[in-house]
Amino acid sequence: MSIEQLSAKDVAGPHLEALLHVFSAALGFSQRSHRVLSQGAAVRRHVDRAGFAAFGAFDSAGKLVGFSYGYASQPGLWWREQVNAALSNRQRSLWLADAFELVELHVHPAAQGQHLGSGLHDALMRQVLNRTALLSVMHRSERARQLYASRGWQVLVEDMRFSSDPATPFSVLGLAL
Ligand SMILES: CC(C)(COP(=O)(O)OP(=O)(O)OC[C@H]1O[C@@H](n2cnc3c(N)ncnc32)[C@H](O)[C@@H]1OP(=O)(O)O)[C@@H](O)C(=O)NCCC(=O)NCCS
Repeated sequence: MSIEQLSAKDVAGPHLEALLHVFSAALGFSQRSHRVLSQGAAVRRHVDRAGFAAFGAFDSAGKLVGFSYGYASQPGLWWREQVNAALSNRQRSLWLADAFELVELHVHPAAQGQHLGSGLHDALMRQVLNRTALLSVMHRSERARQLYASRGWQVLVEDMRFSSDPATPFSVLGLAL
């Protein structure tokens, strides 16, 4: 197993199919579902954002089994504006002024529990130059929540509802860097 940095070109090109396979397996979606197709379009948009950085976890045969990526948080982007509305004034100035968004972190279920998730997290966060980092995690993603808590992430909004999916409870977490 190895963890390697991926370029924007790799993520949107040769690795995209494997990345969507990991995404769908980790979250339990069918690979042909609307959610996975729209994720493909989202990834292709995300690679062009300022501060984009990504890492991949590969098994001994060179197959991608996990990935993490994020970018600099910019006013006007949909996720940030939803989070902005849920924060207090004090939280906004503390957490949004110079933030990195950890957008995706997934490991294929067959490869979970071997420290790849924490390795992908740590590799990505090590190269962030911003003062804070932000992410949202589903309430039901217990393992991810444990991982973030063990790395010092704080809960900023416990019950966050995004307009795209108001039935699913998320939490917004922040990490001071
Ligand atoms: C969250 C996820 C990325 C973690 O990947 P992983 O490779 O299994 O993670 P690791 O082996 O590094 O373990 C990470 C932490 O999870 C917890 N953990 C590991 N194995 C566990 C298990 N069997 N049961 C419960 N928690 C477990 C531990 O707290 C561990 O941290 P520690 O070993 O430093 O104490 C992975 O489970 C995943 O892709 N889940 C589905 C998608 C998801 O929820 N993504 C996050 C979106 S925000």
